[in-house]
Amino acid sequence: MKKIQISPSILSADFSQLGNEIKRLEDAGADMIHVDVMDGHFVPNLTIGPPVIKALRDYSELTFDVHLMISPVHKYIKDFADAGADIITIHPEATDNLAESIKHIKSLKKKVGISLNPNTDVGIIENHLGDADLILVMSVYPGFGGQKFIPEVIEKIELLKKIKDDRNYNYDIEVDGGINFSNSKNVINAGANILVSGTTIFKENNGNIKKNIETLKEV
Ligand code: DX5
Ligand code: ZN
Repeated sequence: MKKIQISPSILSADFSQLGNEIKRLEDAGADMIHVDVMDGHFVPNLTIGPPVIKALRDYSELTFDVHLMISPVHKYIKDFADAGADIITIHPEATDNLAESIKHIKSLKKKVGISLNPNTDVGIIENHLGDADLILVMSVYPGFGGQKFIPEVIEKIELLKKIKDDRNYNYDIEVDGGINFSNSKNVINAGANILVSGTTIFKENNGNIKKNIETLKEV
């Protein structure tokens, strides 16, 4: 099994201290930094954009795992690449031409992530799985931190793991939304190797992020 990695979502961090929060996550053993970008249109919430990511870039060497919940996404991909994103994850519903958007991300020498909402089937992106570095399985409807994990997505994780093994694909399987200490093991056993978490990492154990990252990695 691949080593389990934790990608804390800065959506639950102290937004007045984002640079220091990222440093704190790196010191606590985070493997990457998950940045949730929302446009108030593709999802009903607004967060941050490229200038903030650029400003944060100096605070950590960790991979910036940038989750774009914006539509249309294609024309903004380069801005996020230039700002310092390492993985650029897009939703298939947010682009007119997924193949072109994947090609574009690759041409900018960034890793390609494709995200599946809870009601989006794997079949929709089946032809693109071989081109992806990461598949981000949403276990809540995107838009807000602190929502409840949708257990039905476990089957989708298992399917993605099976396809990956059968066809020898290389993508990581990342799960995002409502991850806590009681469902993390199920998600890992289903085949996920990267867990995103905001609420659990920043709020459990009185905000002991080191302990929370370690506990989420336990199988
Ligand atoms: C939801 C975001 C998630 C979310 C995770 O739209 O994509 O990254 O912030 O936060 P928790 O762990 O609180 O569900
Ligand atoms: Zn996310």
